[in-house]
Amino acid sequence: MATKIILDCDPGHDDAVAILLALAAPQIELLGLTVVGGNVPLQLTVDNTLRVLLLAGREDVPVFAGCPRPMVREMITAEHVHGESGLDTASGELLAMPQSVAQQTHAVNYLIDTIRESDPNTITLVATGPLTNVAAAFVMAPDIIERLQQLIIMGGAFHEPGNISPAAEFNVYVDPHAARAVFEAGVPIVVFGLDITHQMLITPARLSAIRHHGGRCGKVTADFLDFFNQYDTSKYGWDGAPLHDPCTIAWLIDPDIFQGRDMAVNVDTADGPNLGRTVADWYVVTDEKPNAKVITNGDSDKFFDLIVDHLAAL
Ligand code: BDR
Ligand code: CA
Repeated sequence: MATKIILDCDPGHDDAVAILLALAAPQIELLGLTVVGGNVPLQLTVDNTLRVLLLAGREDVPVFAGCPRPMVREMITAEHVHGESGLDTASGELLAMPQSVAQQTHAVNYLIDTIRESDPNTITLVATGPLTNVAAAFVMAPDIIERLQQLIIMGGAFHEPGNISPAAEFNVYVDPHAARAVFEAGVPIVVFGLDITHQMLITPARLSAIRHHGGRCGKVTADFLDFFNQYDTSKYGWDGAPLHDPCTIAWLIDPDIFQGRDMAVNVDTADGPNLGRTVADWYVVTDEKPNAKVITNGDSDKFFDLIVDHLAAL
């Protein structure tokens, strides 16, 4: 039976690939997309979600707009990585905007209602943006926490330095208070931080495979990933940008690509240089119970083969 998922996202180039991967995978049933402000302001992340669904010919999947800003902090966004639209392309041609619009229901209410109305342990929540919507749902309706099968997160940096501050990864840094509430909630978590996503670089050969072997959606995906590559290649001198968010969906399709360990994870919410740092008890030096499986390694060639094959199937 297919895994039922709700994807909470902030597209974002890598979120867009995560959506396409979820739509393409027969093992996954994408119930709905909840959207949060993050890479760009909420109105744009919602528009980008609708654009990606049109690209895939799947406007039947409902989209729900959620929180436009973090719990406590001022909003920060990442146009420096994703461009003004949040989904800029190398060719300059934005993905077409559909007639379809987001649902009236707020994303947080949709999360609560859907999880409550489903059988216990049948829904997997995947979060690839700041955790504001997820934390709000857990605070408003704590009963949904034990009904969730699992929560798969892209966020955090454990041994790897941060990508928005020296200590913090972007999704956690945008809303560290939400991230802390989520890691302390007691839901089974699998977390993909920069330690693993920085192993998944969109090298020129991989970009070319997406363009030439990923079918119609692959060509468009290569155009927007070509833009996405610009920031990391010029900033860090890497061979390509890390394809962060699709790791979460790839895990659901083929967990054997990745390895990780259960650990106790805490999120630093104190103002100062460590704000948003995710601290994992790597060597089990405390008695704290593990609250997350931290993914540490993965086979990047298998990961990109999986991406190309699935794009081609759309
Ligand atoms: C995360 O931040 C965003 O820019 C990406 O979409 C990804 O979710 C990586 O730090
Ligand atoms: Ca994201």
